[in-house]
Amino acid sequence: MKGIILAGGKATRLRPLTKITSKQLLPVYDKPMIFYPIETLKSMGIKEILVIIAPDYSGHYLNLLGSGIDFGVKFSYEIQDEPRGLADAFRIGENFIGNDNVTMILGDNIFDYDFSTNISEFNKGAMVFAKKVDDPFRFGVIEFDKDMKAISIEEKPEKPKSNYAVVGLYVYDNKVIELAKNLKPSLRGELEITDLNNIYLAKGELKVGIIDGVWEDAGTFDSLLRISNYMASKKMKNEK
Ligand code: DAU
Repeated sequence: MKGIILAGGKATRLRPLTKITSKQLLPVYDKPMIFYPIETLKSMGIKEILVIIAPDYSGHYLNLLGSGIDFGVKFSYEIQDEPRGLADAFRIGENFIGNDNVTMILGDNIFDYDFSTNISEFNKGAMVFAKKVDDPFRFGVIEFDKDMKAISIEEKPEKPKSNYAVVGLYVYDNKVIELAKNLKPSLRGELEITDLNNIYLAKGELKVGIIDGVWEDAGTFDSLLRISNYMASKKMKNEK
């Protein structure tokens, strides 16, 4: 299993914080944000990690992360010239992924949840994770039938069919490369991860795990503050 951290984008929602640096380098309590997705992949046993970054501030990532020796992993890097969408990662990452399966995590998604059991059960198809939230319209939303079988996924729906948001960690078999290459941009001009997930769902090859641990998409001022406070109190508890 290879890993990808998608850490590009323009992060205009976090201006002026992101006027002179990249969102995924901002501090979350005592560490740069990107350290958390690195730890999540590591805890899943993933050691070969491609970091996809925007051209701006790309040198900062090399300075901060280097070869990966300090983290006990091996980093590769690719530049995404334009934010063409989340599924673009599998086009950019084609050579890196090779013939392996791949887990992608968004560079601003922070978890306090152990994915290792879920991953050990994965062999083919796709696996995504959902968490109950109060503001599902901000996310990809999964609709379930009465047996909790997924029946649809919609990207940022105005009228969400459930409160289950798709979190930013996705596991795919190697077919994802070809599927991503054949995707067409959505109306907002992006290669949508939700379109990829719906292809797997239509083939009956999408597993959905419900997570109950902490998850935050740290892309807004409020969520950034919440997760920083959470990490601070967790550290204080651990030190007691
Ligand atoms: O956080 C989970 C959500 O992430 C999912 O529920 C949604 O289905 C999924 O589309 C995504 O929604 P976001 O609104 O968070 O996507 P956003 O455009 O903010 O991009 C997520 C991260 O990926 C962000 O940190 C920047 C990075 N990114 C984004 C795009 C579009 C890239 O590196 N390249 C890109 O082309």
